[in-house]
Amino acid sequence: MAEAVVTVMLENLNSLIQKKFGLICGVNKEMEKLSSILSTICAVLGDAEERQLRDRAIKIWLQKLKDVADELNDILDECSMEASLLEYKRQSSRSTQKVRASFFSCFNPKNTLFRFRIAKRMEDVSDRLDAVANERMKFHLREVVQGRHLQVIDKRQTGSVVDEKHVYGREEDKDKIVEFLVDNSRSSKDLSVYPIVAMGGMGKTTLAQLVYNDERVRRHFEIKIWVCVSEDFDVKRLIKAMIESASGNACDALDMDPLQKRLQKMLERKKFLIVLDDVWNEDQEQWEGLRNVVACGLNGSSIVVTTRLKKVALIMGTIPMHQLSVLSEDDCWSLFNQRAFGNESEERPNLAKIGKESVKKCKGIHWLQRL
Ligand SMILES: Nc1ncnc2c1ncn2[C@@H]1O[C@H](COP(=O)(O)OP(=O)(O)OP(=O)(O)O)[C@@H](O)[C@H]1O
Ligand SMILES: [Mg+2]
Repeated sequence: MAEAVVTVMLENLNSLIQKKFGLICGVNKEMEKLSSILSTICAVLGDAEERQLRDRAIKIWLQKLKDVADELNDILDECSMEASLLEYKRQSSRSTQKVRASFFSCFNPKNTLFRFRIAKRMEDVSDRLDAVANERMKFHLREVVQGRHLQVIDKRQTGSVVDEKHVYGREEDKDKIVEFLVDNSRSSKDLSVYPIVAMGGMGKTTLAQLVYNDERVRRHFEIKIWVCVSEDFDVKRLIKAMIESASGNACDALDMDPLQKRLQKMLERKKFLIVLDDVWNEDQEQWEGLRNVVACGLNGSSIVVTTRLKKVALIMGTIPMHQLSVLSEDDCWSLFNQRAFGNESEERPNLAKIGKESVKKCKGIHWLQRL
């Protein structure tokens, strides 16, 4: 329940950020901060909900979270209304050529008061949410998730293969990333790390697969490596997985030192691309431990990281994160049509109508994962 509430709220918040509402109203920093805290909390909610039945302290923690979430929801509702109003004014002023009047209306006392009030409330709620997020540490929720990680990893394990003809609406994202990777060798001396960030099910892995298999990328990099990281950021396991992905053979070395040397031998004086898919590790030292081993290739070598957590992107990224936006309604429908009807929805017009309505309501996000 809490997971669903927080997820929807995060969607609303991110949608407002994308519409640049925060910039217009001077609350962008607070919104980004809230989004980052919420995505961190979101990651442990499934586990917290399971454990609340046995652990009263977690139940109380979830109740505190719900209280703050209710307050934040009210604020976001007000922001959404204000955003619609601003958009309406912008459009009507455009049609009546009153652009200047509309611009100055941002500074009229009523709007200034609104902005001040919202900024203050957001600051308060962000402090409260921060406290709730910090409190989660004492329940060791991540450790419990890690206790299940073998099962989770198995279910979430990804590889580089993708069925490109059934991927919709990611051309622009793909081109942007591919162009960066290919141009990067001219400008960068250091190993670049390109983070792709979005909520679960939005298509991060799919986009990384498109990039990995792109013809320009194939031609540009001598070595390509795909590793599914998931919750277990064990440097030794990751080095082993990299060796296996690059060589296509099982690697039986057991100790860290021979593993490090073997990987470095493979990467030295080569231009390589590594995809680290589904990273959750927020420990900078562990990341640096891995980065130091692989930072031995030619200029222009790159790492692409996919993660749900902005904090991870901030720790690992050497360039600003690439935030995935939701698919357009048309692309969502193409996907739905293909998955649900095998692209033959015309034969079932009634079901197709219901499908189209669902696509509209879901705004193109989480159901992707469930299809
Ligand atoms: N653009 C798209 N076109 C068609 N299918 C897509 C698209 N994006 C994602 N999907 C499908 O949606 C599902 C979820 O996508 P994906 O695994 O890439 O999401 P994710 O953001 O990596 O999620 P997670 O955070 O759980 O790893 C997959 O079945 C994938 O094939
Ligand atoms: Mg993924």
